[in-house]
Amino acid sequence: MPWYGSHSYLNEYISEKKCKKILEIGVYNGENAKSMVETAIQNVPPQEVEYYGFDFFSYHSSDLVGRKLGKTGCKFRLFEGNTLDTLPEAVKTLPDMDLIFIDGGKSFAVAESDWENSKFLMHDGTGVFVHNVGFSGVRRMVENIPRDKYQVKIFHAPSEGSVALIKKKTN
Ligand SMILES: C[S@@+](CC[C@H](N)C(=O)[O-])C[C@H]1O[C@@H](n2cnc3c(N)ncnc32)[C@H](O)[C@@H]1O
Repeated sequence: MPWYGSHSYLNEYISEKKCKKILEIGVYNGENAKSMVETAIQNVPPQEVEYYGFDFFSYHSSDLVGRKLGKTGCKFRLFEGNTLDTLPEAVKTLPDMDLIFIDGGKSFAVAESDWENSKFLMHDGTGVFVHNVGFSGVRRMVENIPRDKYQVKIFHAPSEGSVALIKKKTN
């Protein structure tokens, strides 16, 4: 599946960095959420893994996604609604994340807002993956990221197109 479901580069990153706190913007049917959590719990006990997911949950309900995540034994919270509204509010109380996957709205306005809010949840080692960099709005958002503060690597994921990995520059 090119756009939905598990993404090997996310699971590789989770395994390598032993990620415990994962945020996904754009959950859809929760299959990628489940895949990321199942990867994380190969390294740490399920109750130490935290997953935070944001979506309208209009195609697939938060109950359905919650049932999938509940079976893994991880801690999770699902935020229902437009991320233009839900994310600015949530970042006030959420912990810093080890991995953030931005895969929600593809317009510049939404992608920009999702990135700007994700920045509040980055520690020095956080990896922020941005899906669908080929979309004009997403591409513009990625192009605007200041390279003096952030390292931005764009790579090609087979069948998916371009993905960006953003990390804080530290030194
Ligand atoms: C490409 S799908 C996500 C796929 C999922 N990350 C995966 O890998 O399987 C995009 C999702 O973003 C959600 N979405 C788009 N714009 C949004 C917005 N402004 N606020 C909340 N969710 C949004 C849609 O409801 C849809 O479920």
